[in-house]
This record gives sequence, C-alpha cells and structure tokens, in this order.
Amino acid sequence: MARDPKNDGNDEKPNRPVENPLAFPVSRRRFLTGTGAAGLAAAASPLVPSGRAHAATPDGTPEQIHLTWGRDPSRSVIVSWASAAQAVNPRLHLGPHPGCGERIVRALQKTYTDGLNGQTVFTYHAHLEDLSPDTLYQYVLTADNDSNAAQPFTASFRTAPAGRAPFRWTSFGDLATPVTSWVLSYGQSAFAVQAVESFKPLFHLLNGDLCYANLNPHVQPAVWADFGNNNQASAAFRPWMPCPGNHEVEFNNGPQGFTSYLTRYSLPHNGTEFPGRWYSFRVGTALFISLQADDVIYQDGAAFVGGPAAPSW
Ligand SMILES: [Fe+2]
Repeated sequence: MARDPKNDGNDEKPNRPVENPLAFPVSRRRFLTGTGAAGLAAAASPLVPSGRAHAATPDGTPEQIHLTWGRDPSRSVIVSWASAAQAVNPRLHLGPHPGCGERIVRALQKTYTDGLNGQTVFTYHAHLEDLSPDTLYQYVLTADNDSNAAQPFTASFRTAPAGRAPFRWTSFGDLATPVTSWVLSYGQSAFAVQAVESFKPLFHLLNGDLCYANLNPHVQPAVWADFGNNNQASAAFRPWMPCPGNHEVEFNNGPQGFTSYLTRYSLPHNGTEFPGRWYSFRVGTALFISLQADDVIYQDGAAFVGGPAAPSW
C-alpha cells in the first residue's frame, strides 16, 4: 500500500481514494439513456455481483468481470469477463463524462478448451484506449444473449493520474476462492476482496498463486469461475494486476500450462514471444514489474509434481 510521502504515516485515509461505486453521482437511468441501448435499466448493487441470477441454460451473460491496465494506465484500461456459453455481440458501453460522449467497444473473444475435462471457456476483452487521466468512467457490459439484458452489469473505474501524483495500491497473493469444497480454498478469500475494497486503491496487485485450480484438476474451469466471481466485487471497479505463480501451471493446458491464465487476462505486452507471463506498467513515477515465478521451482508445481488431488497418470 503506497503512502503519500507528504504524510507522516499516521493518516490512514486513502491518498487518492477511488470512488465507491455505490456513490457514483451519475444516475444509471441517465447513463443508459445516453448509450442508445434501448431497454437497458438500472443494475443491481455492484458489491454483490456474484449474487446475480444465473440463466437456467448457459448463455452470454457477463460474469467473472475484472479490469487490468493497458499500456498506459492513465489512458488505457482493459475490461475482461467470461460467460458460460459463447456470447453474441459481446460489448462494452463506456459512459459519458465531461468532454466526451459515449462509446461502444466490441469485445475480443479468447477461448480455450480445458485439457482435462474438455470444457470450453469463453472470455471477452474490451480494450479501452485514449482515455483521460485521473478520470472516473462508468461502463455497462452486455451481449445479445445476456440474460440480464434488462439489468446489465454496470460498474465504474478511475484511470491513473498522469505525471507525479500520490496514489494508493494494495497487494496480496494466495487468494483462492471462498468455495471450501475446493482444495486449498477458504472462506476468508471473500473477506480479502472486501478488504481491498475498504482501502479503495487505485489498483490491486494480485500475486500468484491465484485460485489453485490445478489442485482440483478435474474441475479447473469451475474453480476459476468461483475465483473470478469472488474477485469481481473489487476487480470490476479497479484493475487487479496478476502475477502467475506455480499453481497457475495446469495439466494439459498449453505447452507451459498457462493457457487458462493467459486466456483470462489481457496484460500490457512485454515485447517478447511470451506475452502475459511477465510485464510492467508505470503509474506516475513508479514502475511496477510482474515477474513469472515458475522458472525453477521445488514446491508442488502442477505439471512438474502433482498436487494432492492430481490425476494418477
Ligand atoms: Fe501459494
């Protein structure tokens, strides 16, 4: 967590709190009217997004929504999500703000098929460029087969400041999911997400290990889904910048086992033929570097040494 160097260390207030989305001043009715998306209405509380109704049959309803910084955090943000089935016309409506109208951004689809249980995972990524620094944006996600189209998911985020400015970030790892039936998941992971929100950071560093799907090898996509829906309460409102750990290596998912991780996250490019595994980004005068930990490992690292619930082959 960053501290303003001008503070004496006793001030626990955020230096630059990113607004509580519940207190967003622009009414959703006014925003949605401006999107031109007829029939869209007010969204449910953004702090309980995982409690939204799920469709009886898999469809393109956005879930597991999370933000990452683009190349320049003051001007670019990527909104990523998944859906239980292929989305039709997945898109993001970027809300109006002073000096700029609305935009509709088509999402890029990235999919993979889990190498163990054969489930195909559909993910979507809306790249928002040419944003204004230190500016609050509201967005809506939907698709033609969004079962919540009448109340599409709505959230807000703030871009990073440009130049020298104080800001706050948070950081932790080994989050897992709150679904305790999964190996190495625990209820505290929900409280951890709430703790991040309580600080209202500009962004969060999500250090690997992430969800420990590899320790539940026959249901890896389901563990990722619980992880993403738990994180969404914060990650839909501020970037959560991940770093892969050894438990992001999964059996039969790509030559290095990172296919799930790499499909689900869109990250600043590292200029190599191995994008996404490591990267950097700059906020103000601070450079953040995310390094891949899976070079030489001696712990229970997925394809190298099976975990407690690993397949027997
Ligand atoms: Fe760990």
